[in-house]
Amino acid sequence: MQLERIRLASLHQKVMSAAEATGFIQDGMTVGMSGFTRAGEAKAVPRALAEKARMQPLKISLMTGASLGNDLDKALTEAGVLARRMPFQVDNTLRKAINNGEVMFIDQHLSETVEQLRNHQLKLPDIAVIEAVAITEQGHIVPTTSVGNSASFAIFAKQVIVEINTSHQSELEGLHDIYIPSYRPTRTPVPLVSVDQRIGGTAIPIDPAKIVGIVFTEQPDSFSTVTDPDAETQAIADHLVQFFRAEVAAERLAPNLAPLQAGIGSIANAVMMGLLNSEFTDLSMYSEVLQDSTFALMDAGKLTFASGSSITLSERCHKQVFGQLCHYKDRLVLRPQEISNHPELVRRLGIIAINTALEFDLYGNVNSTHVGGRNMMNGIGGSGDFARNAHLSIFVTKSTAKAGAISSVVPMVSHVDHTEHDVDILVTEQGLADLRGLAPRERAVQVIQHCVHPDYRAQLQDYFDRALKRGGHTPHLLEEAFSWHLKLEQQGSMKA
Ligand code: COA
Repeated sequence: MQLERIRLASLHQKVMSAAEATGFIQDGMTVGMSGFTRAGEAKAVPRALAEKARMQPLKISLMTGASLGNDLDKALTEAGVLARRMPFQVDNTLRKAINNGEVMFIDQHLSETVEQLRNHQLKLPDIAVIEAVAITEQGHIVPTTSVGNSASFAIFAKQVIVEINTSHQSELEGLHDIYIPSYRPTRTPVPLVSVDQRIGGTAIPIDPAKIVGIVFTEQPDSFSTVTDPDAETQAIADHLVQFFRAEVAAERLAPNLAPLQAGIGSIANAVMMGLLNSEFTDLSMYSEVLQDSTFALMDAGKLTFASGSSITLSERCHKQVFGQLCHYKDRLVLRPQEISNHPELVRRLGIIAINTALEFDLYGNVNSTHVGGRNMMNGIGGSGDFARNAHLSIFVTKSTAKAGAISSVVPMVSHVDHTEHDVDILVTEQGLADLRGLAPRERAVQVIQHCVHPDYRAQLQDYFDRALKRGGHTPHLLEEAFSWHLKLEQQGSMKA
């Protein structure tokens, strides 16, 4: 135990075991926990809660920033603890429970959760469980590798449990910029006008009297599971670099582009890695999760500053970054997710948003969340916060999935997350479709020509030709619009 991490001495008496701290969490409560894209989640208390629930069943509504690491969503699902879960997850076991209707999952824009809490549209958390590197002399909480929704959860909850994680180095203090918007109708603009600006404090300001328990843990964050770039993701990156080059030549982008946002997952990370071999320098990121690619670009001297809400790294990159944090610290800031993803700021800063689609359709509607129109994959995350408000809204995906049995370009998406109005550019390894300023019929021509895999091109052209004969602003054959998905369900492939 490192009691010196609790700098307000009167709180030393609140130290207890994780099992004891679970005593504050009652059946039916709404619980707000730290954690965002497998970084900075409370670890010991949820694990102890899952163990306790196996003996004494209880159910809670669990809110976090985004996904949790250390298989915590799995443990909580298996123990039957989760009645409701929001706003994002990436866990296989929880995914199954959601798709079986056992856990009610509220898939929400990540900037929106605390705004809805602030305005009492959602029930406030009864208790917050927040991972910290330290508690300050004022009793304020210093977060770890993510900020997520932690600040507002701690401010809104009646009681707070702090998990001090000594596997995180104390040097993380100072990395965070905690700004909380004021209440409407007297709210003022969020005063952030550049990516590297600091507008808040470095700790979560709460009344220390709300801290009912402090638990020590040394369980580290999980490493990220992104896979290395491959030929297809490299091709996607190459198309994007070429596009950026043309935008700079046309003076629609500055030579250092615009602040970049990159979505979660292997594809977005690989696409950002693609910028390593480009001529672009003096880049900046205003993003949500900072992945390996952020630090690879910094090491290559290409990226000057990165703002995010969490840091989620592979094992190798984790050692390198946290082994010499002082080398990066003045070029990094972690913000609450309502600020990292704030529509006002995304629009003001003119962000280039690069997110991943599961599938998109002829006219540019994007599905990022649902497999086969029914089954939740992960959630919309922050992709909608950025896509609708970005300077350039880009979606990337491989043109096929599951060894070619699935075309990611379909006549009509089986679920819509990002409508045709929110999407500027679509990229697959086949090419890039620039949809800006085009009518639906013109967009379809670009999508068929540039994005669809050759195995599906004639099939999609045939659909479009026959739909054109039927007419309409957005031509469709409604009786066939989902025939590719049905074929996949019935025959195991979308191929004709
Ligand atoms: N139909 C069914 N499955 C598909 C598919 C499709 N059209 N396209 C891809 N998949 C499958 C892949 O085969 C893969 O399955 P596997 O895990 O069994 O191998 C899985 O989806 C993930 O796809 P992958 O190609 O590895 O991409 P990824 O790791 O980059 O993840 C998303 C892609 C869309 C799932 C992920 O980016 C996501 O959850 N996005 C939504 C949230 C978001 O964008 N947040 C960021 C905002 S900052």
